[in-house]
Amino acid sequence: MKTKQINLFQIPEVLLSMLRCLIIFILIAVTSVPLSAQVKETPVPRIVEKDGRHALLVDGKPFLMLGGQAHNSSGWTGMMPQVWQAIEAMYANTLEVPIYWEQIEARPGKFDFSLVDMLLQQGREHNVHLVFLWFATWKNGSNHYMPEWMKLDAKKYPNITGKNGQPVDSPSPHTKAAMEADAKAFTEVMRYLKKEDPQHTVLMVQVENEAGAWASVRDYSPEAQKLFEGQVPAELLKPEILKALNKTVIAKGTWTEVFGKDADEYFQAWSVAKYIGYVAAAGKAVNPLPLYVNAALRDPITNPSANTYESGGPTDNVIPIWKAAAPSIDLLAPDIYLPESEKALKVIELYDRTDNTLFVPEIGSGEKFTRYFYPVLAHGGIGFSPFGIDDNGQGETKAETETRLASVAQDYATAGPMMRELAQWSFEGKIKAVVEHEDHRVQTIDLGAWEATVTFGTSRRNAEEAEKRPFGKAMIVQLGENEFLMTGTLCHFTFKPLGANAVKSWQYLKVEEGYYENGTFKLLRIRNGDETDWGGPRIGAVPVVLRIMLFVR
Ligand code: DGJ
Repeated sequence: MKTKQINLFQIPEVLLSMLRCLIIFILIAVTSVPLSAQVKETPVPRIVEKDGRHALLVDGKPFLMLGGQAHNSSGWTGMMPQVWQAIEAMYANTLEVPIYWEQIEARPGKFDFSLVDMLLQQGREHNVHLVFLWFATWKNGSNHYMPEWMKLDAKKYPNITGKNGQPVDSPSPHTKAAMEADAKAFTEVMRYLKKEDPQHTVLMVQVENEAGAWASVRDYSPEAQKLFEGQVPAELLKPEILKALNKTVIAKGTWTEVFGKDADEYFQAWSVAKYIGYVAAAGKAVNPLPLYVNAALRDPITNPSANTYESGGPTDNVIPIWKAAAPSIDLLAPDIYLPESEKALKVIELYDRTDNTLFVPEIGSGEKFTRYFYPVLAHGGIGFSPFGIDDNGQGETKAETETRLASVAQDYATAGPMMRELAQWSFEGKIKAVVEHEDHRVQTIDLGAWEATVTFGTSRRNAEEAEKRPFGKAMIVQLGENEFLMTGTLCHFTFKPLGANAVKSWQYLKVEEGYYENGTFKLLRIRNGDETDWGGPRIGAVPVVLRIMLFVR
């Protein structure tokens, strides 16, 4: 009988080819799984409120955005090395960077997310979170970031009309076609982030940029005029809203009947807020990331006429209108370029409301403005971000960038290692802060059982220098009844007991200088002798962290 010959050398060859097939199959399977399915999904960042205070939860815990905002035209691949150079120089943990409707939807309905991908990838490589700024229908009150195909169809996507019929360089909030187009594109962006960013590199998204109009208080086009002469929508006539706007509670009426001299501005604010609220709601429906709208401010003290500032945006006087019109917007945020201490502090106070989380997405740069970092924390702020951090194509060296950003860098370097603690203390209302005013006046901080007195400057600062650099600041965290954490620049603290202990003598039990690391205070030295005896602890131009214990004898 003929037996079948088995070639032993064929067996390994068969196995080998099976193995090859298996490897190819595994490779195809792994590489075809979207990146999003391979990375760890984290909880969606969200804003929480407790007793009128707020926190941004990232990975389930309060997070403080130590931010910096790139220049308007820097969200492009070739510009990013200088942006990262700035972020590194500042010790920032969050980059605010624009994404552009004109680039993302250069052709109607065709979406290009290559720059979004680049930003996500680079943010992760640098271990820095991102806040995307959706430059779309409005950018500084104009339509300049609308795609070309929209700009060229001005009839379908019109600008507003001024009081005397003149054209105004600001998009109409009364155009449904533009609103639908913006909402569609924004929804695509949010959907893309939901799919491609499960690790939440992006913490928040700004919807539009400084919306409103500069050269006209409102739209006077025939369509707008018809709406203006009609009835105020019932949603806006709720007693609590009218009271918050200091208006008489009334059941119905035209804009002029209900709002009198403020009718034009309030009408524009309502129209812009409704439009942006629609865009935001569409995006939020597919991805619940926190959304915000930024405001070009008006003078917060003098109640100026609406034709002196950008009308229709969320300025302090129309916050209740924005809240009613755009509930999908999580917060309204002030862009602070008012350097005067009374005005900047007033703005911080006005945007810290039970119904509004404080966030400063833009502020001028330099020590004149970084002094407001501490009051923002004291008001429960979730982030702070100087504008225009990169060199904007000027070819700055690393050393030049570091010098330019030195003041915010030293504050972020001090705050960074205790960022989570600061965010928690801020949420719990344990932080108090003061800044040096232009007249250098002495200030006091009420700490319950104690009062701190803060004076500014150093023994080395003479009057002339103080005039040039009145930028001292001080922050005190209440850790216990007699225990405090303090930091600051160009400041000097003394204390006195209050209440029943006011008549008693007191002393420092301990003054420790150190820093936070992984949630623990690490000691660098104990300050005593000359460092506390001559009127209490001083901090010079570079911030340090002091933990002090006071004691009544
Ligand atoms: C405020 C705007 O929001 C920014 O995009 C930028 O244009 C700055 N002004 C420039 O100062």
